[in-house]
Amino acid sequence: MINQNPYDHNLDGKTVLLGVTGGIAAYKAAALASKITQAGADLHVIMTESAARFVQPLTFQTLSRNHVILDTFEERDPRVVSHIDLADRADLVIIAPATANFLGKLAGGIADDMLTTTLLAVRAPVFIAPAMNVHMYDHPAVKENMKKLYDWGYHFIEPGEGQLACGYVGKGRLEEPEQILHTIDRFLSGENGTMGESKPVTKDLKGLKILVTAGPTREAVDPVRFFTNRSTGKMGYALAEAARDRGADVILITGKTHLVPPDGVQVIQTESAQNMYDAVLSVYDDIDAVAKAAAVADYRPAQVSEKKIKKGDGAFTVEMERTPDILKTLGKRKTSQFLIGFAAESNDVEHYAKMKIQKKNLDLIVANNILEEGAGFETDSNIVTLIDRNGRSQNLPRLSKRELADKIWDEALKLGLGASAE
Ligand code: CTP
Repeated sequence: MINQNPYDHNLDGKTVLLGVTGGIAAYKAAALASKITQAGADLHVIMTESAARFVQPLTFQTLSRNHVILDTFEERDPRVVSHIDLADRADLVIIAPATANFLGKLAGGIADDMLTTTLLAVRAPVFIAPAMNVHMYDHPAVKENMKKLYDWGYHFIEPGEGQLACGYVGKGRLEEPEQILHTIDRFLSGENGTMGESKPVTKDLKGLKILVTAGPTREAVDPVRFFTNRSTGKMGYALAEAARDRGADVILITGKTHLVPPDGVQVIQTESAQNMYDAVLSVYDDIDAVAKAAAVADYRPAQVSEKKIKKGDGAFTVEMERTPDILKTLGKRKTSQFLIGFAAESNDVEHYAKMKIQKKNLDLIVANNILEEGAGFETDSNIVTLIDRNGRSQNLPRLSKRELADKIWDEALKLGLGASAE
């Protein structure tokens, strides 16, 4: 088979089991099935009864060129017990989409259909890509179940944020098939863990107080208008969530975003650069590390009109003045805090990032070219270079913002974060 995608060569010759559960995102699983087969894998699909109400099994049969299984008691080959046979043969299992109901069943050890029965017998790595309404995703039962499964060694491919089929905007949208393929391919390559071994949740940030800033700032012109930027807050929220999962006490100081803040994190909502400056400095003394992912405005209108500005006939000019540089102030007042900055550049990325390390007295900077596809603002992934204060730089591949968040904390720990606290 000709494999044109440079990312998916590790799937060639592997037996992959795709479990499709009943959510509207089941239609995206068809695209995933097609990509997995094109990558040279022998794909077997198990659908739940409700998944088959969204997409016809024939779709998956045609794409996988294998019979699609729905019924636990459908034993087509008398020589084997089909759910045990499939479980034994799989090199890797992926559940996409995984509904809240499915997560509950797996976490409860329930085996009442072909998919859940097979999964109890599987010993290969299992990737779960949840998809559901944003409030369902945030329900404590769903979170508990995911946590339990994660602790048992299941791998999660976090849902993306965006417009959901139910009309809400938020976290819950099935990760794009291409990104799922990329994640499993990297796993099979051993780049992100070894096959058969699941990454344990290490509480390596326990005892540390971490401050993350996220999102854009808004600089008012009048009560109606403001200047802002394209930051969605995804990178900062991912950093806060990852730090929380690794045991840190996290304060998230955020500009206005559409995101649901992670549970168990202290959230301070802010609007302008000045608000954010005040909030950050009010907690800074007690903090061990700061990750300044927020896109802070450098300028604000010099005058803010209390009344709505009425239009006139001619042009309209707004005079802008500088805002305080929060990170630079933190760099100046630094005692033992570990400072992580971000550099969003459109050219000469490393050069400018290195200048920012010096100017702002940082320990680590996360630099990215915002013009690169799959990087920067309004995406779920990022492609960055990590640069430390000695100028040592490390180019990372395209990663989801959550994966990148973990890499950033890994690097901070390597560079000495927390060493003085012991
Ligand atoms: N930053 C800050 N306060 C500001 C501006 C930026 O704390 N008023 C922080 C950002 O949160 C980021 C880092 O400084 O972590 C670099 O931000 P960036 O916008 O890339 O650089 P600037 O310092 O604003 O410089 P320039 O706009 O000239 O690139």
